Amino acid sequence: MTQLPKSVRIVEVGPRDGLQNEPVMVSTEDKVTLIELLGKSGLKNIEAAAFVSPKWVPRMADSAKVMEQIERLPGVTYPVLTPNKRGFDAAVAANAQEIAVFGAVSESFSKANANSSLDEILNRAIPMVEQAKAHGMKARGYISCCLGCPYEGDIDPLKVLDVAIQLREMGCFEIVVSDTIGTGTPQQAAALIELLVPRIPIEEIAVHFHDTYGQALANVYACMQLGVSVVDSSIAGLGGCPYAKGAAGNLATEDLLYMLDGLGIETGVSMERILEATDFISGVLGRPPASKTGQALLKKREG
Ligand code: HMG
Ligand code: MG
Repeated sequence: MTQLPKSVRIVEVGPRDGLQNEPVMVSTEDKVTLIELLGKSGLKNIEAAAFVSPKWVPRMADSAKVMEQIERLPGVTYPVLTPNKRGFDAAVAANAQEIAVFGAVSESFSKANANSSLDEILNRAIPMVEQAKAHGMKARGYISCCLGCPYEGDIDPLKVLDVAIQLREMGCFEIVVSDTIGTGTPQQAAALIELLVPRIPIEEIAVHFHDTYGQALANVYACMQLGVSVVDSSIAGLGGCPYAKGAAGNLATEDLLYMLDGLGIETGVSMERILEATDFISGVLGRPPASKTGQALLKKREG
């Protein structure tokens, strides 16, 4: 029988995943304003920055400034991506409360995204997660390409299980099952969650769907039916990965929230406030939001 969760925690990834791939550099000031608007909506987790190589991802080059300038609200965490020791040290210096390490299930994507093998990526993550704990920080563990790889195509779900177990054993509190290129469909997503659950508790699984093929919301629903209650999304549907050509933005926060509100699932997030952030970032980027809900509600608001 279908049993949807009573509440869902939305992890907003727009300021990081959303802006890392934009053709224009959004100013530090605008990033800070965006993050602060998102904070006012009731979101409790806002991925704010990435301490990655600026040679690889120039759009995240001002991450230290962003972390320094944002007003941090009590009870809200602002996770940051850390690919290596240098990134981790920068996260500590920025007083981040949470890091995110990121691996993938495919060797080709690992090479393209981090110039490393999957084993090298995971071996680098072990001391970062250990030291994060020593600093009182939490660590999320992303797994990219869970439902398909831009280079290798189909992915063996057992490989996802293997990486998920390794990330959990090293101490990640949450495993983020990511569909980087957005090719997955609901049955496939649900089958993967079912495969993971005997080894990874359902409360420790988050889902992160890019919406390239318009499947993200349906995938979330299918995973929620199995008890998944942590969902990543991005304001205005921004996003994409520089190393996954053609991948569209993440599931839009507005579309996710509209569905969750309609299902009576608690999130603690205000749609009115979210729209302020949608409106703001759409103005900065000079284009309407990718989200249907964002478009419809902004139009309605204008009268
Ligand atoms: P590399 O080129 O092999 O490493 O990159 P390197 O050590 O030779 O470093 C190259 C240069 O970057 C050097 O500068 C380093 O100092 C510098 P140089 O000496 O030439 O002047 N550098 C750094 N600078 C600042 N911060 C650092 C840092 N590290 C090195 N932390 C590396 C290896 C892993 C660093 C690189 O490949 C990298 O940064 N990759 C990150 C790529 C990335 O951010 N991708 C997007 C995020 S993942 C994603 O979007 C997927 C996700 O959303 C889930 C999903 O949807 O699937 C999470
Ligand atoms: Mg992503």
